[in-house]
Amino acid sequence: MPDPQPSIASALVSTLQDHAASPRSQCQLDRASPPCVVVVFGATGDLTSRKLFPSLYDLHCLGSLDPRACIVGVGRSPMDHQTFRHRMREALEQAGVEQLDPWEELAPRLFYCAVDVDGGEGLDALRSLCQELDDTWNIGGNRLYYLAVPPTAYETIATALGQAGMSDEAQGFARIVIEKPFGSDLATARALDAAIHRHFAEHQVFRIDHYLAKETVQNIMVLRFANAIFEPLWNRRYIDHVRITAAESLGVEHRAAFYEHAGVLRDMFQNHMMQLLSLCAMEPPSQFEAELVRDEKTKVYRALRPFPVERLDEHLVLGQYGAGMIDGRKVPAYVDEPGVAPDSATPTYACMKVFIDNWRWQGVPFYLVSGKRLRKKHTEITVKFKEVPYSMFRKVLGEHISANTLILSIQPREEVILTFQTKLPGPMCLRTVRMEFDYNAGLQRAKVDAYVKVLQDVLLGDQTLFWRQDSVELCWGFLTPILQECDCPDKADKSDRLYLYRAGSDGPQEVRHILSPATMQHGTML
Ligand code: BG6
Repeated sequence: MPDPQPSIASALVSTLQDHAASPRSQCQLDRASPPCVVVVFGATGDLTSRKLFPSLYDLHCLGSLDPRACIVGVGRSPMDHQTFRHRMREALEQAGVEQLDPWEELAPRLFYCAVDVDGGEGLDALRSLCQELDDTWNIGGNRLYYLAVPPTAYETIATALGQAGMSDEAQGFARIVIEKPFGSDLATARALDAAIHRHFAEHQVFRIDHYLAKETVQNIMVLRFANAIFEPLWNRRYIDHVRITAAESLGVEHRAAFYEHAGVLRDMFQNHMMQLLSLCAMEPPSQFEAELVRDEKTKVYRALRPFPVERLDEHLVLGQYGAGMIDGRKVPAYVDEPGVAPDSATPTYACMKVFIDNWRWQGVPFYLVSGKRLRKKHTEITVKFKEVPYSMFRKVLGEHISANTLILSIQPREEVILTFQTKLPGPMCLRTVRMEFDYNAGLQRAKVDAYVKVLQDVLLGDQTLFWRQDSVELCWGFLTPILQECDCPDKADKSDRLYLYRAGSDGPQEVRHILSPATMQHGTML
């Protein structure tokens, strides 16, 4: 008897295993990074202990950190090297790092230097320490400055480094890493950039968007451009609409001071949502190279159709969460969170309809949805194809046949799903089935945290996964009209267009003004 046919899912997984077992020559070889003094400003802060140091340690364990690389923590308070080492060791334990044997090799290359950048104190000591380490470990002048500090300190630190001659690349590289937000609107983004560019050239500036380092986000370009079957359909002729959702069940947590001024548009749309949009909509670059990839993204941002300010309601719904239940637990309304003004009109949810004015996408709406305290955490991109042009089954099945959907699920599930029609056994009747690829199935190497990838790329000087300033400015420019609407000083005006939604729900009902039933996700608004 012949072997039974493998199911579609198992066929897919075995294909993946075949590939995973294939020679490494098919993969980009892991490149060793050059020696460097990594200077972390904000060394006593949360980001350093939760993310940066554990990621640097991971790089060390993976053998991707040069054995001469030194790490210098910088903070305001005085501390000796030993105490800093002790703190970083605790940070690893708290981050749940299990493999602590390689710690002994890295610990002697950890240092601390107290610097008060505002008061202009300690920078000479930092420069001397870096030079001393450079001489001792033969580092060749390479420096990486990671600004794990509030964005208000970026300009001061970049200026201080420049004035101290520490941005100079005469001997080795000098790279500066900053995290979003890059300004709070177009004008402030330009001002920040001008200040940084006074001392650092664009090739030295690494603007992080941690979404770009997510494996499943990187996979978007691979899915589109390493397969022949998707790209011919990836345009206005076959695609009805695209929906990009980044829903969170978490609330504002302890970040009210920042979030009250940012709101969801600055916090999620100006950066992560725009990156997901450009990855879905960009043209294939001629090479997988930083400038070429970033050029294509920039072209998408240039083609964004400006919002019609007089008809904003047809393109934008804003919301703010009220009290509700998440995972069976009562949670407070946004306005009752610590640090939030009781009459705050800051949006915690937005749904926008965006068009891209170019040949490929003319007339295809992109729906961008993101919010806090929604029913569940999930980030996904849904590409809804058009219905068949004519149904030969119309007499038996009626006029409509459900259209194909391609779902790129970014997190927490990491999968690609294609839905299509099949026949049910028996009389002519259709059912929608799913072909699923689980990103983690058959993987033979451990996945790394997004920060590990980001740090490795900075050390290698690869800017592919980082924002370029022209794109930053284009996105701020695009969002400016709606930011102005949201930022208007009269709170009463603002709350007119701010709809309350229950925590744990799918967001404000008014989103139906924008999302038609056809655009609902699995029949819901999320
Ligand atoms: C950050 C935002 O950039 O991204 C947060 O500031 C948000 O408000 C977070 O919660 C979401 O990231 P992730 O990786 O959990 O989807």
